[in-house]
Amino acid sequence: MNEEQWIAVDRFIGDLLIPSDPALDAALRASVEAGLPAIQVSPAHGKLLHLLAKVRGAQTILEIGTLGGYSTIWLARALPVGGRLITLEADPKHAEVARANIARAGLAGAVELRLGKALDVLPQLAAEQRGPFDFIFIDADKPTTPDYFAWALQLSRAGSLIITDNVVRKGALADANSTDPSVRGMRRFHEMVSAEPRVSATTIQTVGCKGYDGFTLALVVRSGMNGRGVE
Ligand code: SAH
Ligand code: DHB
Ligand code: MG
Repeated sequence: MNEEQWIAVDRFIGDLLIPSDPALDAALRASVEAGLPAIQVSPAHGKLLHLLAKVRGAQTILEIGTLGGYSTIWLARALPVGGRLITLEADPKHAEVARANIARAGLAGAVELRLGKALDVLPQLAAEQRGPFDFIFIDADKPTTPDYFAWALQLSRAGSLIITDNVVRKGALADANSTDPSVRGMRRFHEMVSAEPRVSATTIQTVGCKGYDGFTLALVVRSGMNGRGVE
């Protein structure tokens, strides 16, 4: 098994199950033209996020790490009428490209992009009582993932789903001696999840057009919102 085969299978899946879509295609094109790194979720992963948000019946979604808004569009399209998505992005150029992509997709009314470092914006969201969110996607700078998970818990309630991207790091997740800050962050994230009675979680390894990585799915089984959540 090799990476070429993973890409070929992702293409087969994409061709049959993920019809090309003008807004998503345009978002990817505009992101490339603006020089953004092509590190967005794959089409198959984007559709998985969309389906999970639908299964959850999510009316409120929080995304940490927007880039050009590709995953944002997949997620926002899962919202019912009147649903809201807040996405956090620290890089002004990424935010500008994402805003245009989201508007072109017809989602400007449902999506609020907050520019700023997520660790600055998350306390603001809590202070503004913008939670709880039904669905949270963590996909920003990897070493800070444990802090984002702690905030996600605070901004969730029983029944919320927290998905975290890029947790397997080409298998380095299993390397206790790794000095890579991203790997260390993802190991510490797993330790937190393991010790956290408010969630039930698993991590799935993935291969595909983005190589070998994986994501964690954590279901909040007990409220994190100081009694304000629905038990
Ligand atoms: N979710 C996107 C990909 C996000 S890539 C998709 O799949 O389409 C990670 C993004 O997180 C980058 O745009 C990066 O600028 C942003 N980021 C990095 N550090 C951040 C921080 N501290 N706060 C908010 N965003 C951050
Ligand atoms: C990378 C991939 C991602 O999915 C992401 O969110 C951030 C970075 C990467 O391959 O560098
Ligand atoms: Mg990612």
